[in-house]
Amino acid sequence: MHNLAWWQSAVIYEVYPRSFQDSNGDGIGDLDGIIQRLDYLVGIGVGAIWIAPIYRSPMADFGYDVADYCDVDPIFGNLQDFDRLLIEAHRRDLKVILDFVPNHSSDRHPWFLESRSSRENAKRDWYLWRDQSNNWMSNFGGSGWEWDELTSQYYYHSFLKEQPDLNWRNPAVRAAMYDALRFWLDKGVDGFRVDVMWLIIKDDQYRDNPSNPDFGPDQSSGNSLLPVYNSNRPEVHEVVAEMRAVIDSYPGRVLIGEIYLPVKDLMTYYGQDLNGANLPFNFLLLQCPWNARAIAQVISEYMTMLPPGAWPNWVLGNHDNARIATRVGLSQTAIAAMLLLTLPGTLTIYYGEEIGMTNAFVRPEDVQDPAEKRQPGIGMGRDPERSPMTWDCSDTAGFTRGQPWLPLGADHRAVNVEVENCDEESMLNLYRRLIALRRAHPALVSGQLRSVTSLGDLLNYELATDHVRLMVFLNFGHSPVQVAAESGIVLAGTDSRRRAERVGNFVELKGSEGIVIKIPS
Ligand code: GLC
Repeated sequence: MHNLAWWQSAVIYEVYPRSFQDSNGDGIGDLDGIIQRLDYLVGIGVGAIWIAPIYRSPMADFGYDVADYCDVDPIFGNLQDFDRLLIEAHRRDLKVILDFVPNHSSDRHPWFLESRSSRENAKRDWYLWRDQSNNWMSNFGGSGWEWDELTSQYYYHSFLKEQPDLNWRNPAVRAAMYDALRFWLDKGVDGFRVDVMWLIIKDDQYRDNPSNPDFGPDQSSGNSLLPVYNSNRPEVHEVVAEMRAVIDSYPGRVLIGEIYLPVKDLMTYYGQDLNGANLPFNFLLLQCPWNARAIAQVISEYMTMLPPGAWPNWVLGNHDNARIATRVGLSQTAIAAMLLLTLPGTLTIYYGEEIGMTNAFVRPEDVQDPAEKRQPGIGMGRDPERSPMTWDCSDTAGFTRGQPWLPLGADHRAVNVEVENCDEESMLNLYRRLIALRRAHPALVSGQLRSVTSLGDLLNYELATDHVRLMVFLNFGHSPVQVAAESGIVLAGTDSRRRAERVGNFVELKGSEGIVIKIPS
Protein backbone atom coordinates (compact mmCIF):
# COMPACT_ATOMS: atom_id res chain seq x y z
CA MET A 1 0.00 0.00 0.00
CA HIS A 2 2.16 2.75 -1.31
CA ASN A 3 1.91 6.33 -0.18
CA LEU A 4 0.49 5.34 3.19
CA ALA A 5 2.37 5.70 6.48
CA TRP A 6 2.74 2.41 8.37
CA TRP A 7 0.24 3.57 11.00
CA GLN A 8 -2.37 4.13 8.31
CA SER A 9 -2.32 0.60 6.95
CA ALA A 10 -1.39 -1.33 10.10
CA VAL A 11 -3.84 -3.03 12.40
CA ILE A 12 -2.87 -2.05 15.95
CA TYR A 13 -3.14 -4.63 18.73
CA GLU A 14 -3.54 -3.48 22.32
CA VAL A 15 -1.57 -5.53 24.82
CA TYR A 16 -2.63 -5.08 28.43
CA PRO A 17 0.73 -6.27 29.76
CA ARG A 18 -0.46 -7.61 33.11
CA SER A 19 -2.74 -10.02 31.34
CA PHE A 20 -1.03 -11.06 28.13
CA GLN A 21 1.69 -13.57 29.01
CA ASP A 22 3.51 -14.25 32.25
CA SER A 23 7.05 -15.61 31.87
CA ASN A 24 8.22 -15.85 35.50
CA GLY A 25 5.32 -17.49 37.29
CA ASP A 26 4.23 -14.54 39.43
CA GLY A 27 0.78 -14.59 37.84
CA ILE A 28 1.26 -11.20 36.16
CA GLY A 29 2.23 -10.72 32.53
CA ASP A 30 5.59 -9.21 31.62
CA LEU A 31 7.82 -8.03 28.78
CA ASP A 32 9.47 -11.42 28.30
CA GLY A 33 6.01 -12.87 27.96
CA ILE A 34 5.19 -10.40 25.21
CA ILE A 35 8.43 -11.33 23.40
CA GLN A 36 7.41 -15.01 23.53
CA ARG A 37 4.16 -14.16 21.78
CA LEU A 38 5.43 -11.88 19.04
CA ASP A 39 5.28 -14.66 16.45
CA TYR A 40 1.64 -15.22 17.31
CA LEU A 41 0.96 -11.53 16.68
CA VAL A 42 2.80 -11.62 13.37
CA GLY A 43 0.75 -14.70 12.48
CA ILE A 44 -2.50 -12.80 12.97
CA GLY A 45 -1.19 -10.09 10.67
CA VAL A 46 -1.18 -7.12 13.02
CA GLY A 47 1.34 -4.40 12.21
CA ALA A 48 1.81 -2.73 15.60
CA ILE A 49 1.35 -3.35 19.28
CA TRP A 50 0.30 -0.70 21.76
CA ILE A 51 1.40 -1.71 25.24
CA ALA A 52 -0.53 -0.20 28.18
CA PRO A 53 1.83 1.38 30.77
CA ILE A 54 4.94 -0.55 31.76
CA TYR A 55 6.59 2.30 33.68
CA ARG A 56 7.72 2.13 37.29
CA SER A 57 4.55 2.44 39.33
CA PRO A 58 3.02 1.63 42.72
CA MET A 59 0.16 0.15 40.63
CA ALA A 60 -2.63 2.02 42.38
CA ASP A 61 -4.24 2.18 38.91
CA PHE A 62 -2.17 -0.64 37.42
CA GLY A 63 0.48 1.50 35.80
CA TYR A 64 -1.59 4.58 35.02
CA ASP A 65 0.07 6.04 38.12
CA VAL A 66 3.64 6.56 36.96
CA ALA A 67 6.48 7.00 39.45
CA ASP A 68 9.24 7.17 36.82
CA TYR A 69 8.48 7.97 33.19
CA CYS A 70 11.85 6.64 32.06
CA ASP A 71 12.02 3.23 33.68
CA VAL A 72 10.24 -0.12 33.51
CA ASP A 73 8.46 -1.49 36.55
CA PRO A 74 10.18 -4.63 37.93
CA ILE A 75 6.85 -6.47 37.64
CA PHE A 76 7.26 -6.25 33.88
CA GLY A 77 11.05 -6.53 33.68
CA ASN A 78 13.67 -3.86 33.11
CA LEU A 79 14.98 -1.51 30.45
CA GLN A 80 17.14 -4.22 28.90
CA ASP A 81 14.07 -6.42 28.52
CA PHE A 82 12.33 -3.52 26.85
CA ASP A 83 15.24 -2.99 24.47
CA ARG A 84 15.08 -6.67 23.57
CA LEU A 85 11.34 -6.44 22.99
CA LEU A 86 11.89 -3.53 20.65
CA ILE A 87 14.60 -5.36 18.70
CA GLU A 88 12.55 -8.54 18.47
CA ALA A 89 9.42 -6.68 17.39
CA HIS A 90 11.23 -4.63 14.79
CA ARG A 91 12.97 -7.73 13.48
CA ARG A 92 9.48 -9.03 12.72
CA ASP A 93 8.36 -5.76 11.19
CA LEU A 94 6.09 -5.03 14.13
CA LYS A 95 5.91 -1.46 15.41
CA VAL A 96 5.80 -0.72 19.14
CA ILE A 97 3.59 2.02 20.58
CA LEU A 98 3.85 2.95 24.25
CA ASP A 99 1.26 4.47 26.51
CA PHE A 100 2.07 7.98 27.70
CA VAL A 101 0.34 9.24 30.84
CA PRO A 102 0.85 13.00 30.96
CA ASN A 103 -2.23 14.19 32.86
CA HIS A 104 -1.14 12.84 36.22
CA SER A 105 1.75 11.06 37.88
CA SER A 106 1.79 8.78 40.87
CA ASP A 107 1.74 10.47 44.27
CA ARG A 108 5.04 8.62 44.81
CA HIS A 109 6.72 10.27 41.86
CA PRO A 110 9.72 12.27 43.14
CA TRP A 111 8.18 15.37 41.51
CA PHE A 112 5.07 15.08 43.65
CA LEU A 113 7.01 14.19 46.78
CA GLU A 114 8.92 17.42 46.32
CA SER A 115 5.85 19.41 45.38
CA ARG A 116 4.04 18.19 48.44
CA SER A 117 6.93 18.85 50.81
CA SER A 118 6.40 22.62 51.16
CA ARG A 119 4.63 25.54 49.55
CA GLU A 120 8.01 27.03 48.72
CA ASN A 121 9.38 23.99 46.95
CA ALA A 122 10.50 24.64 43.38
CA LYS A 123 8.15 21.91 42.15
CA ARG A 124 5.13 23.19 44.09
CA ASP A 125 3.64 24.59 40.91
CA TRP A 126 4.14 21.33 39.01
CA TYR A 127 0.77 20.13 40.38
CA LEU A 128 -2.59 21.83 40.99
CA TRP A 129 -2.59 23.18 44.55
CA ARG A 130 -5.39 25.42 45.89
CA ASP A 131 -6.51 26.86 49.21
CA GLN A 132 -10.08 26.01 48.34
CA SER A 133 -11.62 23.14 46.48
CA ASN A 134 -14.36 23.57 43.87
CA ASN A 135 -16.99 21.13 42.60
CA TRP A 136 -14.77 19.23 40.14
CA MET A 137 -15.18 15.51 40.57
CA SER A 138 -12.83 12.59 40.15
CA ASN A 139 -13.61 10.32 37.21
CA PHE A 140 -13.50 7.49 39.71
CA GLY A 141 -16.22 9.07 41.86
CA GLY A 142 -16.34 11.65 44.64
CA SER A 143 -14.55 14.98 44.85
CA GLY A 144 -11.41 15.42 42.79
CA TRP A 145 -9.77 17.43 45.60
CA GLU A 146 -7.63 15.96 48.34
CA TRP A 147 -6.71 17.90 51.45
CA ASP A 148 -3.03 17.74 52.31
CA GLU A 149 -2.34 18.25 55.99
CA LEU A 150 1.34 19.08 55.73
CA THR A 151 0.95 22.26 53.70
CA SER A 152 -2.76 22.88 54.32
CA GLN A 153 -3.87 22.99 50.70
CA TYR A 154 -5.87 20.82 48.37
CA TYR A 155 -4.49 19.16 45.26
CA TYR A 156 -6.57 18.07 42.31
CA HIS A 157 -6.75 14.53 40.92
CA SER A 158 -8.90 13.62 37.91
CA PHE A 159 -8.69 9.97 39.00
CA LEU A 160 -7.41 8.47 42.28
CA LYS A 161 -5.91 10.62 45.01
CA GLU A 162 -2.76 8.57 44.31
CA GLN A 163 -2.78 10.16 40.81
CA PRO A 164 -2.27 13.92 41.31
CA ASP A 165 -2.80 16.00 38.15
CA LEU A 166 0.25 17.76 36.74
CA ASN A 167 0.10 21.46 35.96
CA TRP A 168 0.45 21.65 32.19
CA ARG A 169 0.45 25.46 32.32
CA ASN A 170 3.93 25.23 33.82
CA PRO A 171 6.58 25.20 31.04
CA ALA A 172 8.95 23.16 33.21
CA VAL A 173 6.37 20.35 33.39
CA ARG A 174 6.00 20.40 29.64
CA ALA A 175 9.75 20.31 29.11
CA ALA A 176 10.17 17.38 31.52
CA MET A 177 7.38 15.42 29.86
CA TYR A 178 8.71 16.03 26.36
CA ASP A 179 12.09 14.82 27.57
CA ALA A 180 10.39 11.61 28.68
CA LEU A 181 8.91 11.22 25.20
CA ARG A 182 12.35 11.72 23.68
CA PHE A 183 13.86 9.12 26.00
CA TRP A 184 11.67 6.43 24.41
CA LEU A 185 11.75 7.88 20.90
CA ASP A 186 15.55 7.78 21.04
CA LYS A 187 15.29 4.08 21.83
CA GLY A 188 13.25 3.61 18.68
CA VAL A 189 9.70 3.45 19.99
CA ASP A 190 7.29 4.01 17.09
CA GLY A 191 4.77 6.21 18.81
CA PHE A 192 2.53 6.89 21.77
CA ARG A 193 -1.04 6.48 22.81
CA VAL A 194 -1.66 9.48 25.04
CA ASP A 195 -3.79 8.79 28.08
CA VAL A 196 -6.85 11.05 28.68
CA MET A 197 -5.67 13.60 26.16
CA TRP A 198 -8.78 15.73 26.51
CA LEU A 199 -8.26 16.27 30.24
CA ILE A 200 -4.69 17.54 30.26
CA ILE A 201 -5.39 21.26 30.88
CA LYS A 202 -7.92 22.73 33.31
CA ASP A 203 -9.50 26.16 33.63
CA ASP A 204 -6.95 28.61 35.04
CA GLN A 205 -9.66 30.27 37.15
CA TYR A 206 -10.88 26.98 38.59
CA ARG A 207 -14.51 27.86 37.89
CA ASP A 208 -17.16 25.48 39.20
CA ASN A 209 -18.68 23.12 36.66
CA PRO A 210 -22.34 23.83 35.84
CA SER A 211 -24.98 21.25 36.69
CA ASN A 212 -26.10 18.86 33.99
CA PRO A 213 -29.71 19.64 33.01
CA ASP A 214 -30.14 16.09 31.65
CA PHE A 215 -29.00 14.38 34.82
CA GLY A 216 -31.49 11.72 35.89
CA PRO A 217 -31.91 9.36 38.84
CA ASP A 218 -30.72 6.39 36.76
CA GLN A 219 -27.33 7.99 36.13
CA SER A 220 -24.24 7.75 38.31
CA SER A 221 -23.41 10.81 40.40
CA GLY A 222 -20.40 11.49 38.15
CA ASN A 223 -22.86 12.77 35.53
CA SER A 224 -24.49 15.38 37.74
CA LEU A 225 -22.18 18.14 36.45
CA LEU A 226 -21.05 19.09 32.98
CA PRO A 227 -17.24 18.89 32.93
CA VAL A 228 -16.89 22.24 31.19
CA TYR A 229 -13.97 23.60 33.18
CA ASN A 230 -11.87 20.51 33.86
CA SER A 231 -11.94 18.88 30.44
CA ASN A 232 -11.60 19.68 26.73
CA ARG A 233 -10.27 23.19 27.38
CA PRO A 234 -9.26 25.14 24.27
CA GLU A 235 -5.64 25.36 25.45
CA VAL A 236 -5.27 21.59 25.26
CA HIS A 237 -4.72 21.84 21.51
CA GLU A 238 -1.55 23.84 22.03
CA VAL A 239 -0.19 21.03 24.19
CA VAL A 240 -1.19 18.34 21.70
CA ALA A 241 0.48 20.29 18.89
CA GLU A 242 3.66 20.49 20.98
CA MET A 243 3.59 16.74 21.58
CA ARG A 244 3.09 16.22 17.88
CA ALA A 245 6.08 18.43 17.12
CA VAL A 246 8.23 16.29 19.42
CA ILE A 247 6.98 13.13 17.70
CA ASP A 248 7.48 14.61 14.25
CA SER A 249 11.08 15.51 14.99
CA TYR A 250 11.64 11.74 14.61
CA PRO A 251 10.76 10.12 11.29
CA GLY A 252 7.86 7.70 11.00
CA ARG A 253 6.31 7.94 14.47
CA VAL A 254 2.65 8.21 15.45
CA LEU A 255 0.65 10.15 18.03
CA ILE A 256 -2.63 8.61 19.15
CA GLY A 257 -5.00 10.25 21.63
CA GLU A 258 -7.45 8.71 24.05
CA ILE A 259 -10.48 10.98 23.79
CA TYR A 260 -14.01 10.32 25.00
CA LEU A 261 -15.95 13.22 23.50
CA PRO A 262 -18.84 13.75 21.09
CA VAL A 263 -17.73 13.34 17.49
CA LYS A 264 -17.73 17.08 16.73
CA ASP A 265 -15.30 17.75 19.59
CA LEU A 266 -13.28 14.62 18.84
CA MET A 267 -12.48 15.93 15.37
CA THR A 268 -10.80 19.03 16.82
CA TYR A 269 -8.03 16.76 18.16
CA TYR A 270 -6.69 16.26 14.64
CA GLY A 271 -5.56 19.83 15.21
CA GLN A 272 -5.47 23.00 13.19
CA ASP A 273 -4.03 22.02 9.81
CA LEU A 274 -3.73 18.47 11.15
CA ASN A 275 -1.02 19.41 13.65
CA GLY A 276 -2.67 17.43 16.47
CA ALA A 277 -3.00 13.70 17.04
CA ASN A 278 -2.51 11.53 13.96
CA LEU A 279 -5.25 9.33 15.35
CA PRO A 280 -7.68 10.66 17.93
CA PHE A 281 -9.14 7.32 19.00
CA ASN A 282 -12.63 6.86 17.62
CA PHE A 283 -14.72 5.17 20.30
CA LEU A 284 -18.09 5.59 18.57
CA LEU A 285 -18.53 1.85 18.03
CA LEU A 286 -17.89 1.28 21.73
CA GLN A 287 -20.86 3.37 22.68
CA CYS A 288 -23.26 2.76 19.79
CA PRO A 289 -26.39 0.59 20.13
CA TRP A 290 -25.82 -2.68 18.28
CA ASN A 291 -28.18 -2.45 15.32
CA ALA A 292 -27.70 -1.78 11.63
CA ARG A 293 -29.43 1.59 11.64
CA ALA A 294 -27.48 3.10 14.53
CA ILE A 295 -24.18 1.80 13.20
CA ALA A 296 -24.86 3.11 9.69
CA GLN A 297 -25.57 6.49 11.21
CA VAL A 298 -22.43 6.51 13.33
CA ILE A 299 -20.21 5.50 10.40
CA SER A 300 -21.69 8.12 8.08
CA GLU A 301 -21.50 10.84 10.68
CA TYR A 302 -17.89 10.09 11.54
CA MET A 303 -16.74 9.91 7.93
CA THR A 304 -18.58 13.09 7.00
CA MET A 305 -17.13 15.05 9.87
CA LEU A 306 -13.51 14.01 9.32
CA PRO A 307 -11.48 17.13 8.50
CA PRO A 308 -9.95 17.14 5.01
CA GLY A 309 -6.88 14.91 4.96
CA ALA A 310 -7.58 13.39 8.38
CA TRP A 311 -7.16 9.64 8.64
CA PRO A 312 -10.04 7.58 10.13
CA ASN A 313 -9.69 4.93 12.83
CA TRP A 314 -11.99 2.47 14.59
CA VAL A 315 -11.97 0.72 17.95
CA LEU A 316 -14.27 -2.04 19.25
CA GLY A 317 -12.76 -2.60 22.67
CA ASN A 318 -10.09 -1.65 25.18
CA HIS A 319 -9.07 -2.22 28.79
CA ASP A 320 -11.70 0.23 30.10
CA ASN A 321 -14.81 -1.21 28.46
CA ALA A 322 -16.74 -4.47 28.47
CA ARG A 323 -15.50 -6.86 25.78
CA ILE A 324 -17.26 -6.76 22.44
CA ALA A 325 -18.31 -10.44 22.65
CA THR A 326 -20.07 -9.67 25.93
CA ARG A 327 -21.60 -6.43 24.68
CA VAL A 328 -23.12 -7.84 21.51
CA GLY A 329 -23.56 -11.51 22.39
CA LEU A 330 -21.78 -14.53 20.95
CA SER A 331 -23.84 -14.86 17.79
CA GLN A 332 -22.91 -11.33 16.71
CA THR A 333 -19.21 -11.50 17.52
CA ALA A 334 -18.24 -12.49 13.99
CA ILE A 335 -20.30 -9.62 12.57
CA ALA A 336 -18.47 -7.27 14.91
CA ALA A 337 -15.17 -8.60 13.59
CA MET A 338 -16.29 -8.15 10.00
CA LEU A 339 -17.50 -4.65 10.68
CA LEU A 340 -14.24 -3.58 12.30
CA LEU A 341 -12.03 -5.22 9.70
CA THR A 342 -13.85 -3.86 6.67
CA LEU A 343 -13.91 -0.20 7.69
CA PRO A 344 -11.38 2.16 6.13
CA GLY A 345 -8.49 3.56 8.14
CA THR A 346 -6.51 2.28 11.11
CA LEU A 347 -8.07 -0.38 13.32
CA THR A 348 -7.29 -1.26 16.91
CA ILE A 349 -7.91 -4.74 18.32
CA TYR A 350 -7.95 -5.35 22.06
CA TYR A 351 -6.04 -8.52 23.04
CA GLY A 352 -8.34 -11.54 23.12
CA GLU A 353 -10.91 -9.91 20.86
CA GLU A 354 -9.50 -12.03 18.03
CA ILE A 355 -10.44 -15.24 19.83
CA GLY A 356 -13.81 -13.97 21.01
CA MET A 357 -12.91 -13.68 24.69
CA THR A 358 -15.82 -12.62 26.87
CA ASN A 359 -15.82 -10.69 30.14
CA ALA A 360 -14.68 -12.87 33.01
CA PHE A 361 -16.74 -13.18 36.16
CA VAL A 362 -14.92 -11.56 39.06
CA ARG A 363 -16.20 -12.25 42.57
CA PRO A 364 -16.46 -9.23 44.86
CA GLU A 365 -13.59 -10.56 46.98
CA ASP A 366 -11.36 -10.85 43.90
CA VAL A 367 -11.87 -7.28 42.66
CA GLN A 368 -8.62 -5.53 41.76
CA ASP A 369 -9.72 -2.44 39.86
CA PRO A 370 -9.46 0.72 42.01
CA ALA A 371 -12.36 2.31 40.11
CA GLU A 372 -14.61 -0.53 41.24
CA LYS A 373 -13.22 -0.44 44.78
CA ARG A 374 -14.04 3.25 45.08
CA GLN A 375 -17.63 2.83 43.94
CA PRO A 376 -18.52 -0.83 44.38
CA GLY A 377 -21.47 -2.26 42.57
CA ILE A 378 -22.19 0.51 40.10
CA GLY A 379 -20.61 -1.39 37.26
CA MET A 380 -17.48 0.70 36.78
CA GLY A 381 -15.27 -2.31 37.39
CA ARG A 382 -12.85 -3.05 34.56
CA ASP A 383 -11.46 -6.36 35.82
CA PRO A 384 -13.82 -8.51 33.70
CA GLU A 385 -12.29 -7.26 30.42
CA ARG A 386 -8.76 -7.55 31.78
CA SER A 387 -8.74 -11.27 32.48
CA PRO A 388 -5.69 -13.24 31.30
CA MET A 389 -5.29 -14.08 27.64
CA THR A 390 -6.25 -17.69 27.03
CA TRP A 391 -3.62 -19.51 25.01
CA ASP A 392 -4.35 -23.18 25.56
CA CYS A 393 -6.57 -25.74 27.28
CA SER A 394 -4.53 -26.09 30.48
CA ASP A 395 -5.77 -25.00 33.91
CA THR A 396 -4.11 -21.61 33.68
CA ALA A 397 -4.70 -21.30 29.95
CA GLY A 398 -0.99 -21.10 29.17
CA PHE A 399 -0.92 -17.61 30.67
CA THR A 400 1.16 -18.44 33.74
CA ARG A 401 2.74 -21.26 35.76
CA GLY A 402 1.45 -19.51 38.87
CA GLN A 403 -1.81 -18.10 40.11
CA PRO A 404 -3.27 -15.58 37.62
CA TRP A 405 -3.74 -12.10 39.12
CA LEU A 406 -7.34 -12.08 37.82
CA PRO A 407 -9.60 -15.08 37.26
CA LEU A 408 -9.72 -16.65 33.80
CA GLY A 409 -12.90 -16.41 31.78
CA ALA A 410 -15.28 -19.29 32.53
CA ASP A 411 -15.15 -20.28 28.84
CA HIS A 412 -11.34 -20.50 28.71
CA ARG A 413 -11.20 -24.18 27.78
CA ALA A 414 -13.22 -23.55 24.63
CA VAL A 415 -12.16 -20.01 23.85
CA ASN A 416 -8.40 -20.15 23.43
CA VAL A 417 -5.73 -19.97 20.77
CA GLU A 418 -4.92 -23.70 20.82
CA VAL A 419 -8.50 -24.77 20.15
CA GLU A 420 -9.17 -22.07 17.61
CA ASN A 421 -6.02 -22.75 15.64
CA CYS A 422 -7.50 -26.13 14.73
CA ASP A 423 -10.89 -24.84 13.65
CA GLU A 424 -11.15 -23.25 10.24
CA GLU A 425 -14.35 -21.46 11.25
CA SER A 426 -13.01 -20.07 14.55
CA MET A 427 -12.97 -16.38 15.41
CA LEU A 428 -9.18 -16.45 15.31
CA ASN A 429 -9.14 -17.72 11.75
CA LEU A 430 -11.77 -15.19 10.75
CA TYR A 431 -9.52 -12.41 12.09
CA ARG A 432 -6.56 -13.86 10.23
CA ARG A 433 -8.52 -14.08 6.98
CA LEU A 434 -9.87 -10.56 7.27
CA ILE A 435 -6.56 -8.98 8.15
CA ALA A 436 -4.97 -10.81 5.21
CA LEU A 437 -7.81 -9.48 3.05
CA ARG A 438 -6.97 -5.91 4.11
CA ARG A 439 -3.38 -6.49 3.10
CA ALA A 440 -4.39 -7.91 -0.26
CA HIS A 441 -7.05 -5.29 -1.04
CA PRO A 442 -5.97 -1.71 -0.38
CA ALA A 443 -9.56 -0.61 -1.08
CA LEU A 444 -10.44 -1.88 2.39
CA VAL A 445 -7.86 0.36 4.00
CA SER A 446 -7.89 3.46 1.87
CA GLY A 447 -10.83 3.10 -0.50
CA GLN A 448 -13.62 5.59 -0.58
CA LEU A 449 -16.46 4.56 1.72
CA ARG A 450 -19.76 4.94 -0.11
CA SER A 451 -23.43 4.10 0.14
CA VAL A 452 -23.56 3.29 3.84
CA THR A 453 -27.14 2.07 4.21
CA SER A 454 -29.23 0.02 6.55
CA LEU A 455 -32.35 -1.86 5.68
CA GLY A 456 -33.91 -3.63 8.63
CA ASP A 457 -31.12 -5.68 10.18
CA LEU A 458 -28.89 -5.39 7.18
CA LEU A 459 -25.95 -3.01 6.98
CA ASN A 460 -24.36 -2.46 3.61
CA TYR A 461 -21.49 -0.29 2.38
CA GLU A 462 -19.03 -0.14 -0.40
CA LEU A 463 -15.31 0.60 -0.60
CA ALA A 464 -14.10 1.83 -3.91
CA THR A 465 -10.91 2.79 -5.66
CA ASP A 466 -10.44 3.62 -9.31
CA HIS A 467 -9.84 -0.05 -9.99
CA VAL A 468 -12.17 -2.00 -7.76
CA ARG A 469 -15.40 -1.94 -5.76
CA LEU A 470 -15.91 -4.07 -2.68
CA MET A 471 -19.40 -4.44 -1.23
CA VAL A 472 -19.86 -5.39 2.41
CA PHE A 473 -23.11 -6.92 3.70
CA LEU A 474 -23.60 -7.55 7.40
CA ASN A 475 -26.69 -9.15 8.91
CA PHE A 476 -27.21 -7.80 12.43
CA GLY A 477 -30.32 -9.94 12.83
CA HIS A 478 -30.80 -13.60 13.62
CA SER A 479 -33.02 -14.43 10.63
CA PRO A 480 -31.90 -15.07 7.07
CA VAL A 481 -32.24 -12.25 4.56
CA GLN A 482 -32.10 -12.01 0.81
CA VAL A 483 -30.58 -8.81 -0.49
CA ALA A 484 -30.09 -7.17 -3.82
CA ALA A 485 -26.43 -7.12 -4.82
CA GLU A 486 -24.44 -6.83 -7.99
CA SER A 487 -22.85 -9.79 -9.60
CA GLY A 488 -19.42 -10.46 -8.25
CA ILE A 489 -17.25 -12.85 -6.32
CA VAL A 490 -17.19 -13.46 -2.59
CA LEU A 491 -13.80 -12.50 -1.17
CA ALA A 492 -14.47 -13.40 2.44
CA GLY A 493 -17.23 -13.92 4.93
CA THR A 494 -18.08 -15.16 8.35
CA ASP A 495 -18.48 -18.56 6.68
CA SER A 496 -15.12 -19.36 5.06
CA ARG A 497 -16.72 -21.85 2.68
CA ARG A 498 -18.38 -19.08 0.73
CA ARG A 499 -15.07 -17.73 -0.51
CA ALA A 500 -14.91 -17.60 -4.30
CA GLU A 501 -18.67 -18.12 -4.59
CA ARG A 502 -20.17 -16.29 -7.57
CA VAL A 503 -22.99 -13.98 -6.61
CA GLY A 504 -25.78 -12.89 -8.92
CA ASN A 505 -28.17 -10.04 -8.38
CA PHE A 506 -29.29 -11.39 -5.03
CA VAL A 507 -27.34 -12.64 -2.04
CA GLU A 508 -28.67 -14.88 0.69
CA LEU A 509 -27.33 -14.25 4.16
CA LYS A 510 -28.01 -16.41 7.16
CA GLY A 511 -28.68 -14.81 10.54
CA SER A 512 -25.53 -13.07 11.84
CA GLU A 513 -23.74 -13.65 8.57
CA GLY A 514 -21.46 -11.20 6.80
CA ILE A 515 -19.86 -11.19 3.40
CA VAL A 516 -17.50 -9.10 1.24
CA ILE A 517 -18.08 -9.18 -2.51
CA LYS A 518 -15.75 -7.94 -5.20
CA ILE A 519 -17.52 -6.33 -8.11
CA PRO A 520 -15.52 -6.49 -11.32
CA SER A 521 -15.03 -3.10 -12.90
C1 GLC B 1 -7.36 6.17 30.96
C2 GLC B 1 -6.95 4.72 31.02
C3 GLC B 1 -7.55 4.12 32.24
C4 GLC B 1 -7.00 4.83 33.46
C5 GLC B 1 -7.26 6.33 33.36
C6 GLC B 1 -6.46 7.09 34.35
O1 GLC B 1 -8.71 6.32 30.78
O2 GLC B 1 -7.32 4.07 29.84
O3 GLC B 1 -7.32 2.74 32.32
O4 GLC B 1 -7.58 4.34 34.63
O5 GLC B 1 -6.90 6.83 32.10
O6 GLC B 1 -5.11 7.12 33.97
